[in-house]
Amino acid sequence: MAKKKTSKSTKSKKLSEAQIAVHWKEEDIVHPSPQFVAQANMTDPGIYDRFSLDNFPECFKEYADLLDWYEYWHTMLDTSDAPCWKWFVGGKINASYNCVDRHLPKYKNKAAIHFVPEPEEEPPAAISYQELYVRVNEFAALLRDFAGLKKGDRVTLHMPMTPELPVTMLACARLGVIHSEVFGGFSGQACADRIVDSGSNVLITMDGYYRGGNMIDHKVNADIAFEHAKKQGQKVDKVLIWQRYTGQYQSESKPVKGRDYIVNDVLKDYVGQRIDPVKLPAEDPLFLMYTSGTTGKPKGCQHSIGGYLAYVAGTSKYIQDIHPEDVYWCMADIGWITGHSYIVYGPLALAASSVIYEGVPVYPDPGRPWRIAERLDVNIFHTAPTTVRMLRKAGPDEPKKYNYHFKHMTTVGEPIEPEVWRWYHKEVGKGEAIIVDTWWQTETGGFLCSTMPALQPMKPGSTGPALPGIHPVIFDEDRNELGAGAGKAGNICIRNPWPGAFQTIWGDRERYVDTYYAKYCKDPKSKDWRDWPYLTGDGALLAEDGYYRILGRIDDVINVAGHRLGTKELESSALTVGDIAEAAVVPVVDELKGRVPDIYVSLKPGVKDGKAVQAKVVKAIESEIGKIARPKNVYVVPDMPKTRSGKIMRRVLAAISNTLDIGDVMTLANPDIVEEIRVLVQGKEKVAIKKGPEDIERFGDEG
Ligand code: WTA
Repeated sequence: MAKKKTSKSTKSKKLSEAQIAVHWKEEDIVHPSPQFVAQANMTDPGIYDRFSLDNFPECFKEYADLLDWYEYWHTMLDTSDAPCWKWFVGGKINASYNCVDRHLPKYKNKAAIHFVPEPEEEPPAAISYQELYVRVNEFAALLRDFAGLKKGDRVTLHMPMTPELPVTMLACARLGVIHSEVFGGFSGQACADRIVDSGSNVLITMDGYYRGGNMIDHKVNADIAFEHAKKQGQKVDKVLIWQRYTGQYQSESKPVKGRDYIVNDVLKDYVGQRIDPVKLPAEDPLFLMYTSGTTGKPKGCQHSIGGYLAYVAGTSKYIQDIHPEDVYWCMADIGWITGHSYIVYGPLALAASSVIYEGVPVYPDPGRPWRIAERLDVNIFHTAPTTVRMLRKAGPDEPKKYNYHFKHMTTVGEPIEPEVWRWYHKEVGKGEAIIVDTWWQTETGGFLCSTMPALQPMKPGSTGPALPGIHPVIFDEDRNELGAGAGKAGNICIRNPWPGAFQTIWGDRERYVDTYYAKYCKDPKSKDWRDWPYLTGDGALLAEDGYYRILGRIDDVINVAGHRLGTKELESSALTVGDIAEAAVVPVVDELKGRVPDIYVSLKPGVKDGKAVQAKVVKAIESEIGKIARPKNVYVVPDMPKTRSGKIMRRVLAAISNTLDIGDVMTLANPDIVEEIRVLVQGKEKVAIKKGPEDIERFGDEG
């Protein structure tokens, strides 16, 4: 272990390395073991030269060649419709074929999926590539001939973590039907919004699933989704319901005649059917994945077939170090981009065995993940800091009780605290596993920054350098570049397009351009990619050694347990409670989830019962968005702190919620309210002011 020298201290008051060092010092680096390096997929440092900007965009042929193509492309990158980039134009491909059929000659008898049900007495079930092939084909036949779906149609999935979810995704992909999976934990209303936005006529769901020891009635959400979508003018013709246990219907809500169909029954008519994969243009959409942005409405990120699959296959191979003989377990939910890219498409494209665990990590006790790892002999493990914190808190000594050995572990979704990183490394990884800290986004399809596991040492709390072919730049507000060791944080952008990047926001190209490109675009008429740096929306800092440290979102999005929630979205669901005049949402530090929302509400004149309102707000948020968004506190305040132009000062509220320095409030229209709210939240006694994490200190800054 070599000691990394501390970065130079700096001038910038707000975002300096020196200030961050108050929370996070420069960390010691950790090298991968010779055993890991000896077996790694990528040990050639020349990859960075091959993927240099001089070799852009042709370098990405290396990733595309990991796939099977019906027809090779004629144009690597078409920029004529900038900034909607098209990759591998002229190429014909099918994602389902690449994740299933092509593995049959060599691997038909190998597990594609290990399904681990939450009830521990139910043994894991292995689904071979041959079996996956059969299920995908039969369900594709049902989608085509029973549901009438065809290439280009959108279908919304609201499914939990069971093998039927990848089967459904791959069946859609086989036909060129665009799937849009909504995280199973989201409410029926959130599902409805996504049905409406994507224009889906078919909803695919499941009757129930296990979570935390209970069978959750999930089909009831489909009824809510159907009604809400209808109100918004989108009629769902068919609801297809998978059964968690064939022949045993789990829901209180009976199937509606002529609308709801039990998939397990209908499938009987499609036994033995085989559907030729449709030969699709590489740049056709594969799926939509909705994500939160700064304004209320979620954005449907549209991902392509060829570019996306090439990128997730390449990054799964080199960053996840997946070999076909590995047992790979990513504990994310397939309802998020991590699950799409790194449970389903990437690992299956490489013929790996991918583990799908139905339930919560600590059920029935915090030893559960390690028992699963031991039983299946998992050797690659992938999770988020929030889960690592939870496992560390609930069972710090559990990993050592079990005989498993990881060669490789991933952290993703938010910055990981070095202390937590060290526990992950020492206890979960038993000091043997390498860790990659992968920084990326729903929009980016795959990883942007990470160490290349056999080539670079790890640095706890830093994501690492950029991936081959990814060329980041950090800009300040005036478009000055902040280079290595600048000691200042800024807006991290990517200079160049890459194949995994989303193509547009479904149905809203203008918002796509505005949100991700307008800020630093040099010439809106330009067809040259060099004029269109991609704005990630994260703040970051580049150390002298070329490692990036991500500080979090610069817009008003709250990262709860690694998932982005739009503050506006939360506020508007609070406002559905009729008694509320105004609502403001701010992030508050939470030991386990990283950040959780605090909600401040003011009441309409005449409303007296604040307690009742608080309960209504919690209920509104749970039913409109889901339990994941449940606020930590709902504060009923007499008024919001406001600027003279009437804007709510969320920065002030965030400082109060997190006991940070509130700063100067004398320019506000109503400065006295600030102390009143402070007392309400913190009590009469003045409490000691803390130093906040960067994202919270900057929260609500209008810039
Ligand atoms: C944050 C999840 C620090 C970041 C894949 C990003 C991270 C947002 C990391 C995307 C990481 C993700 N270190 N921050 N390794 N990974 N983030 O779209 O703020 O759900 O913009 O995609 O999570 O969240 P999303």
